[in-house]
Amino acid sequence: MNNTQPNNIYPIFDRMLGREDKEALLKQRSVMVWFTGLSGSGKSTIAIALERELHKRGLLCRILDGDNIRSGINNNLGFSAEDRVENIRRIAEVSKLFIDTGVITIAAFISPNNELREMASTIIGKDNFLEIYVNTPIEECERRDVKGLYAKARKGEIKDFTGVSAPFEAPEHPALSLDTSVLSLEESVNKLLELILPKVKV
Ligand code: PPS
Repeated sequence: MNNTQPNNIYPIFDRMLGREDKEALLKQRSVMVWFTGLSGSGKSTIAIALERELHKRGLLCRILDGDNIRSGINNNLGFSAEDRVENIRRIAEVSKLFIDTGVITIAAFISPNNELREMASTIIGKDNFLEIYVNTPIEECERRDVKGLYAKARKGEIKDFTGVSAPFEAPEHPALSLDTSVLSLEESVNKLLELILPKVKV
């Protein structure tokens, strides 16, 4: 066997299948839907409802949120400014893998400042990145206090708590803002579908 043959007789091995191949297989275009907002603002609730609606329409999605990221790949990270950078950096890198697999990727993280969100959009690719600001007022997030964390933060039992003892910087030009103290879940999801469907349908 002559193993000095040029490998262009096997053109199929020349390149790894890419995003466009995967998108063609899935009959969809991938996009990054990046939710930002305070704890308790409704990011994960909207993400879950959005995924269901897209799934119903035959579109493959992946949600990344605290439940599947901070409990696993990022379980060594806390909430210092440094750890939040590393948290978002890893999430962005993982998201990029899903985007490159043709999957509509939905991330729900506080991602509390423009620099962090800018880093994420640079890693993922700005053309793919839809920044969605869940701008439910802090008073409403605190009233809900689903996990009892605001109460603990106010008593000083949790340090660096976003909105209480750590800053949250609102996005400057989000693709969409959703205030869940005003909009129903259905209204929020409908606004998202209007924005997303034209971008993901082939
Ligand atoms: S960040 O800022 O993007 O790295 O945060 P994220 O990964 O989204 O994690 C936020 C959830 O962790 C819980 N939690 C805290 N949030 C903010 N600050 C402090 N110090 C903190 N400690 C724990 C909180 O329940 C957040 O949950 P969500 O789902 O956003 O309500």
